[in-house]
Amino acid sequence: MNTRVLTGITTTGTPHLGNYAGAIRPSIQASTLPDVDAFYFMADYHALIKCEDPARIARSRLEIAATWLAAGLDPDRVTFYRQSDIPEIPELCWMLCCVTAKGLMNRAHAYKAAVDQNVARNADEDEGVTMGLFSYPVLMAADILMFNANKVPVGRDQIQHLEMARDIAQRFNHLYGQGEELFVLPEVQVDDDVATLPGLDGRKMSKSYDNTIPLFEGGSAAMRNAVMRIVTDSRGPGEPKDAESSHLYTIYRAFASAEQAAKFKQALEEGLAWGEAKKQLCDRIEAEIGPMRDRYAEFMARPDRIEDILQAGAEKARRLAVPFMERLREAVGLRRHVSVPVAGSEQAAGKSKGKAARFVSFRDADGSFRFRLISGEGTELLLSEPFSDPKAAGVAIKALQQAGALQELGHQEGDLLVIRLDGQKVAAFPAEVAADVRTALESMAG
Ligand code: TRP
Repeated sequence: MNTRVLTGITTTGTPHLGNYAGAIRPSIQASTLPDVDAFYFMADYHALIKCEDPARIARSRLEIAATWLAAGLDPDRVTFYRQSDIPEIPELCWMLCCVTAKGLMNRAHAYKAAVDQNVARNADEDEGVTMGLFSYPVLMAADILMFNANKVPVGRDQIQHLEMARDIAQRFNHLYGQGEELFVLPEVQVDDDVATLPGLDGRKMSKSYDNTIPLFEGGSAAMRNAVMRIVTDSRGPGEPKDAESSHLYTIYRAFASAEQAAKFKQALEEGLAWGEAKKQLCDRIEAEIGPMRDRYAEFMARPDRIEDILQAGAEKARRLAVPFMERLREAVGLRRHVSVPVAGSEQAAGKSKGKAARFVSFRDADGSFRFRLISGEGTELLLSEPFSDPKAAGVAIKALQQAGALQELGHQEGDLLVIRLDGQKVAAFPAEVAADVRTALESMAG
């Protein structure tokens, strides 16, 4: 069996060079490994937790899809989809919510940080805390468990969420698995080799520090512009530079072969001017990103093409999610009533090897109780009138199962045969199916 690798990308921002080197590039590489089935999706329901600007959400979903595709993700090989195109995910999220201890969520870092900040400034501890933020880890567990992912590559900040997903999965398995593992326990994968790019000021490249180098947005000019603003020390041209301590070199290394990096390092140590070094860095980045930039522009100009790709991805994903959800519904008791055994049918099953007719009781949308008579072949022969209480429906079923019930209780009224019990109408059906109804009832009569 192939290993299922799954990860989500929250759609709130525009991808920058740090996202590319730290997540996009390694994920695309991993997706080409043999024995790997990769599931990459845009976590746009998660985005709603952090962002209430519809235009930004829409824009980010598009940019992120275009970025991954332009960077070489092969949607035929990978299952690439949008979380919000899979309605089974929020459905599973609710099921998981119902088995998740609130106490477990109280310990989630993101939620705790929000509370701590409120406490620190003497505000109400729940100020600005939505249920979305609070239950964020449950939605993430649903993303992962929906597809029974084995491995989940994420950043360190997500490790706790993976532990929670395992906890929730275990509890669900224990409650509903009946000895069977409904959910695979996912493993976190934190890759320490992956490049964490420093930003312009040397801190981790991040939108929240406003120190990013753009990836595609703004074209090569914007990229060059940012590179020129990378902070360096004040050593002038000709003065030896300490490559290892310069973040310019760290960024260079992420886009160069070992050989190219060694040469660059040597040049710096021999006094290469910072300005020249920045130009060389731009060229290195451009060699890798340049060709993708054109593809990115093409995708951004054709959102309909992106949409087609995402729809095909959602279809692929739902081929797994829909039947699995059916199984989970069954496991928790959200079953279709046709599979509920009703008094009488077991006996009959014994008699004619599963081809017995049966009564199926159910609760109607308006809250009333009804039943159907289903023939051994599976066709519906009659539908009862509504009953306000289930006992009355049961009494009517019992009466119908008595030998000769149809002759006794049936009254021809026009084209219909109406069944009455103590004057009360129980059911009516076309007279021409009366023979089938009789056969069915007789097959059940004790
Ligand atoms: N929470 C993740 C992040 O911020 C994104 C995400 C959502 C995710 N659902 C996921 C990652 C499922 C892995 C698996 O990075």
